[in-house]
Amino acid sequence: MRIDIITIFPEIFAPLNVSIVKRAVEKRTVEIKVWNLRDFTKDKHKKVDDTPYGGGKGMVLKCEPIFAAVEHIKQYNKKGKVILTTPQGYLFNQGMAKRLSGEEGLIIICGHYEGVDERVSSIVDYEISIGDYVLTGGELPAMVIIDCVVRLLPGVLPKEAPVFDSFSQHLLDWPSYTKPAVFREMKVPEVLLSGNHKEIAHWRKEQAEKRTKERRPEIYKRYLKNQEKNNE
Ligand code: ADE
Repeated sequence: MRIDIITIFPEIFAPLNVSIVKRAVEKRTVEIKVWNLRDFTKDKHKKVDDTPYGGGKGMVLKCEPIFAAVEHIKQYNKKGKVILTTPQGYLFNQGMAKRLSGEEGLIIICGHYEGVDERVSSIVDYEISIGDYVLTGGELPAMVIIDCVVRLLPGVLPKEAPVFDSFSQHLLDWPSYTKPAVFREMKVPEVLLSGNHKEIAHWRKEQAEKRTKERRPEIYKRYLKNQEKNNE
């Protein structure tokens, strides 16, 4: 997969150079290129934003440099799906990450300031928000999307790992423990030390259900519905 990022803060993307994403780049599973939006401006001040028509505070990212950047990048990332990160977008989730991981390429435009000229949406395939909160820019959301998508690419994680993810199974993960068995008087649940795999599996399922019901009732509802369907 090829991923191109269009941003006014290229230096923010340093974290992509560590850990699992770094390894995926080294293995050539993914190629990531960061582009500075200012390099696609034509005026001497390299202006990427302007005041909104109709008045109001804040600045709006201009459409000309964004169109120029996407058109330039499409020469290299011909089938790349174009994403705009914005609080106004569709809510990102694991299903969306899975769908995007099947694409040949992605071109991510990082939104900024008070917004992006609406005409940009004519060249965008997906407008995506990562949650119901407002960040200072679309760079962190772009990184969240890239991290989620890259770990799903073939060969990046052990074969069985993504299947057992929270959300793919419609439940949050069960509690995990590692050595020591007792830490500051806090004991690892006895069942996990028992070696009884059937009981362990039962306990984990119960814990995952309890946690999901309590913390994410909307996910739990979907899980129950799915179970009903499977029992039909
Ligand atoms: N830009 C600012 N906040 C955002 C969010 N929650 N998701 C995507 N882009 C954003």
